[in-house]
Amino acid sequence: MRLAGKTALITGAARGIGLEFARAYIAEGASVALADIDEAKVRQSAEALGPKAFAIAMDVTHQDSIDAGFDEAVEKLGSIDILVNNAALFSASPIAEIIRADYERIFAVNVAGTLFCLQAAARHMIARGTGGKIINLASQAGRRGEPLVAVYCASKAAVISLTQSAGLDLIRHGINVNAIAPGVVDGEHWDGVDAHFARFEKRPLGEKKRLVGASVPIGRMAEPADLTGMAIFLASAEADYIVAQTYGVDGGNWMA
Ligand SMILES: NC(=O)c1ccc[n+]([C@@H]2O[C@H](COP(=O)([O-])OP(=O)(O)OC[C@H]3O[C@@H](n4cnc5c(N)ncnc54)[C@H](O)[C@@H]3O)[C@@H](O)[C@H]2O)c1
Repeated sequence: MRLAGKTALITGAARGIGLEFARAYIAEGASVALADIDEAKVRQSAEALGPKAFAIAMDVTHQDSIDAGFDEAVEKLGSIDILVNNAALFSASPIAEIIRADYERIFAVNVAGTLFCLQAAARHMIARGTGGKIINLASQAGRRGEPLVAVYCASKAAVISLTQSAGLDLIRHGINVNAIAPGVVDGEHWDGVDAHFARFEKRPLGEKKRLVGASVPIGRMAEPADLTGMAIFLASAEADYIVAQTYGVDGGNWMA
């Protein structure tokens, strides 16, 4: 077991990738706080994972909620060795139709949420003096623009940049900050993405998802479980010398 005795907090863990990471960390011996704005769902998800998981109601756009959530996690787990900054929102629209409120909503979760959860974890880890691991969820969308996805792409480029700056700042405290950049991962998130493209590209529901999956060099979309190897590795002692990096786990999609 590569995470025996470790403690982790994962944001946006009620479903999808965050929930799969929680399952994988527990299988590797960790105890996990699953934090999410969807309180009912995160409680249900944590309960299903058993006694090494518990739920925290947390909205990453509010500092009071972040502070209370981290305090609760430290109280219940004793410490936080690993933070996974996973909560995020997606939106799509042509540049000419972007609404300021939508930009602010996406950046509040994807960028400010990532930064201030990272800060809360870093303060705790610095005070403890035993280092830690912080893993941010970036995206292939952060490595290049897309015609209908300017706001989300920019938010994920910011996550890659924050990973670099925080990685360089925090390594002197023994805190490794790195990121994972998935390609296209099946689940409720991509059902939402598909619905946006159906609207703006005038496609039947499900078509964009099918085409995108078929064009991935490996031949299919990812399942959340395809990402857990990297998530475990970056949280483990095997990644002690890795600093400020963003790793693509995308079946070759971005390279293509
Ligand atoms: N699914 C993909 O294809 C894909 C591709 C690249 C990157 N990613 C990234 O991976 C991460 C997880 O993606 P997913 O597919 O599991 O997404 P998802 O939409 O299934 O899950 C996101 C979770 O975040 C929670 N959340 C939203 N706003 C929140 C807030 N203010 N505070 C706390 N929690 C909040 C939601 O309730 C949800 O449970 C995200 O950062 C996403 O951008 C996903």
